[in-house]
Amino acid sequence: MDARDEFLELVRQAKEHLRYYQELGVTALGDTERLAAVAAIAKTALPAPVELKTPAPQAELTVPTSPVPTLPTLPALPTLMAMPEPPLLTLPLTTLEAMPKSEDAPLLFGELEPAPQAAAAAAAPVNETLEDIRREMGDCQRCKLWSTRTNLVFGEGSPTAQLMFVGEGPGADEDASGRPFVGRAGQLLTKMIEAIDLKREQVYIANVVKSRPPGNRTPEADEVKACKPFLLRQIACIKPKLIVTLGNPATQSLLETKVGITRLRGEVQTYPHLPGVKVIPTFHPAYLLRSPDKKREAWDDLKKVRAFLRGELEG
Ligand code: URA
Repeated sequence: MDARDEFLELVRQAKEHLRYYQELGVTALGDTERLAAVAAIAKTALPAPVELKTPAPQAELTVPTSPVPTLPTLPALPTLMAMPEPPLLTLPLTTLEAMPKSEDAPLLFGELEPAPQAAAAAAAPVNETLEDIRREMGDCQRCKLWSTRTNLVFGEGSPTAQLMFVGEGPGADEDASGRPFVGRAGQLLTKMIEAIDLKREQVYIANVVKSRPPGNRTPEADEVKACKPFLLRQIACIKPKLIVTLGNPATQSLLETKVGITRLRGEVQTYPHLPGVKVIPTFHPAYLLRSPDKKREAWDDLKKVRAFLRGELEG
């Protein structure tokens, strides 16, 4: 049910609610005396009417000017008891099903931004290939990074990979070669992949931004925004079972969150842009090169990745 349907449903329920009061003999909601009397009786006879969260219907009703029409006498208590309960403002089942599970809540509440990128990904041609996406990127100049790059680094690996790795952005070696993760961090990533009994060619490797940020600085918001639709389309095209996000920029961008990697790492997260895809964040290999003491935690995360792919870990 979309927002408009949900709104119409609320209006319908509000109307029913008003009809309930009318049936109790209230002809004008400005008639506070009558309302209070009805409320007192209803309190003992019926469950309390549900409070409307929508703008109070009174605001839309014209309070009758004098003389106030004579009201019929209040129905006797047995009649009141036989009356239908006021309609409950329940959410339709479909809405409830679509609601995030409690474990997703920290990711979703207050941290989801409207995702125009998701709309862009959804608008992408249904059966497009990675080649189609690469062709569309062309000699991309959608953000300022184009002016300092040597090569655009699109991504590489199996187009049917079950596992995808997403890093931050190309470094010097990647910029020079046009391939992702080929420098020192890349060599460590290859070892990480092999440690979970996979070959590099079996996975797909991409980055949040496809052009090197000067001096390997963190990609800026406008650069991420310009590049993200293409990453989302790559993911939609590959449909991996699992994405391992490497470090903060990839994790925060793909999960639409501001929560940091230290809190999110090693836990199976829900990818918000495509049903059925999960995300396990872990530390970026470049960070592991600087902080080798974190490798143990990264190895724990990788074991979870392996268990998930083997169907031994619930998403
Ligand atoms: N770091 C990244 O985030 N991506 C690469 O491709 C290389 C290094």
